[in-house]
Amino acid sequence: MDFELTADQREIQNLTRELAEAEIVPNASAWDREHRFPDELLPKLAELGLMGVCVPEEYGGAGADFLSYILVLEELSRADAGVGVTLSVHTSATTLPILAFGTEEQRSRFVPPLARGEQLGAFALTESSSGSDAASLRTTAAAVDDGWKLNGSKQWITNGSRAGTFVLFARTDPRTEGARGISCFVLDALHVRVTREEEKLGLNSSTTSDLVLEDVHVETDRLLHDEGRGFRVAMATLDGGRIGIAAQALGIAQAAYDVARKYAQERVQFGRPIADFQAIQWKLADMATEIDAARLLTYRAAWLKQQGRSHTAEGAKAKLFTSEMARRQTAEAIQILGGYGYTKEFPVERYYRDAKITEIYEGTSEIQRLVIARSILGQQSSEVAPTPQGTHP
Ligand code: CAA
Repeated sequence: MDFELTADQREIQNLTRELAEAEIVPNASAWDREHRFPDELLPKLAELGLMGVCVPEEYGGAGADFLSYILVLEELSRADAGVGVTLSVHTSATTLPILAFGTEEQRSRFVPPLARGEQLGAFALTESSSGSDAASLRTTAAAVDDGWKLNGSKQWITNGSRAGTFVLFARTDPRTEGARGISCFVLDALHVRVTREEEKLGLNSSTTSDLVLEDVHVETDRLLHDEGRGFRVAMATLDGGRIGIAAQALGIAQAAYDVARKYAQERVQFGRPIADFQAIQWKLADMATEIDAARLLTYRAAWLKQQGRSHTAEGAKAKLFTSEMARRQTAEAIQILGGYGYTKEFPVERYYRDAKITEIYEGTSEIQRLVIARSILGQQSSEVAPTPQGTHP
């Protein structure tokens, strides 16, 4: 067992940290206050290869491994969790499923613009009446002579108003209820209409949109993987995506801990820095321990994925533990800062608001427990996404 990052992984981690400190940290609270998506940041991420960090070079990516990508998400989320989710959905939920399930033609057509950051990706699964019960989705794709005609609506789509490429799920067999009648499509921005931008508790530098599809005609080459196998694409995609959300939660918790520790060493009450008091020491000790445990779970899940091994339960465990830990520990960071923590003078109130969503999207904590329980009880029916030659070295 080797707990050391490789030289390449450390280099990508340092590069991302430098970029985050220079370009994101100074702006994050303004983006939050103004609810502003930082369009100007994406070319800078692209220039460093971060828009396709774990995509093979032949498809326009940086050719790094999956753990490197997880390190990137952690570092970006430490600076701004909205930027973290933007990149996570773009990569884990859009680029990687096309790479894993696409034909060679689809891979070479759709992946390079995403990996080079010329286009942003979005993942359109959720609808107003299908959230945790994803298989109950109602958007339809009817077979027509030369392709498919799609109708329906999608809700809470991260990157929805900025994306150029959508991985979208629709029911192709109206006679079949549940997972079996669902197929997956790759669509362009011109195929969807954005109807609403969500107002959220946090993650204000990311966009979350509602979409409609009205008699959208696409050719047969837009079907990703086999007809009727789309739900499996969604589930396998979320298996990896959940590791990315764990990394996002980890970055948020680390940021909160950094601020709380520094504050505790500087803030004097009763004639001493408050870090001298055992009440505060134990809070910091618990934070450091839980962050460590979360990091180990998250990196292990990433390692399993890049080995091409099953990571369904391990990814769910990483997301479950890390997101709940981030919610708990960002609250503790506010407690350490006291009144200051509740104000916008310090960023911990933003971390607290941002952490909450990691317990909800890409599967609630309750759904993660269901996935883990099925695995413990031998009821899990997952498959590892096929890995094209040269992907995730
Ligand atoms: N990998 C591959 N296939 C899988 C799988 C996996 N991990 N898990 C299940 N499947 C397959 C099954 O084998 C089964 O296939 P067959 O029909 O061929 O046998 C099919 O999928 C249906 O499986 P289940 O019977 O287990 O499905 P279910 O209806 O019981 O649902 C669930 C399972 C885990 C609850 C699922 O609905 C789920 O994950 N819900 C949460 C939805 C979610 O995470 N949404 C996130 C939205 S995206 C987002 O949040 C992005 C963002 O903005 C950050």
